[in-house]
Amino acid sequence: MKIVIGNDHAGVEFKNKIMQALRSKGYEIINVGTDTLDSVDYPDIAKEVSKKIINKEANFGILICGTGIGISIAANKINGIRAALCHNEYTAKLSRLHNDANIIALGARVLGEDLGLACVETFINTEFEGGRHARRVGKIEQ
Ligand code: RB5
Repeated sequence: MKIVIGNDHAGVEFKNKIMQALRSKGYEIINVGTDTLDSVDYPDIAKEVSKKIINKEANFGILICGTGIGISIAANKINGIRAALCHNEYTAKLSRLHNDANIIALGARVLGEDLGLACVETFINTEFEGGRHARRVGKIEQ
């Protein structure tokens, strides 16, 4: 499974912890940055990660900013992206089961790194339920 990850300056350390943990478990990670504390604009990062999902270069995306709010709002402007801002394993699981989310957004200033990683692992290991949820996701796409 390939995962693309991107973050603004608020999420560098948080991203590194999650990326290292996922790599140590054998996941292939594409890191689109940023990797310094210099200020960047989260919509640019949201676009880079979203492009890789739309072009099928990765199965799932992870977006990190201070709260996860700005970067998820930006990603959700892009056709075909369903970015879910998750705060716990329950929301991470339901975002896959019911919403077929293809990006998980996390707030580096909101969650601890262990909880962030738990959210990501739940997210990437949960299948979309389909059925009535597929009809609803289809309406979002229209
Ligand atoms: C950057 O300071 C901060 O505004 C950003 O990381 C994010 O939290 C925006 O939603």
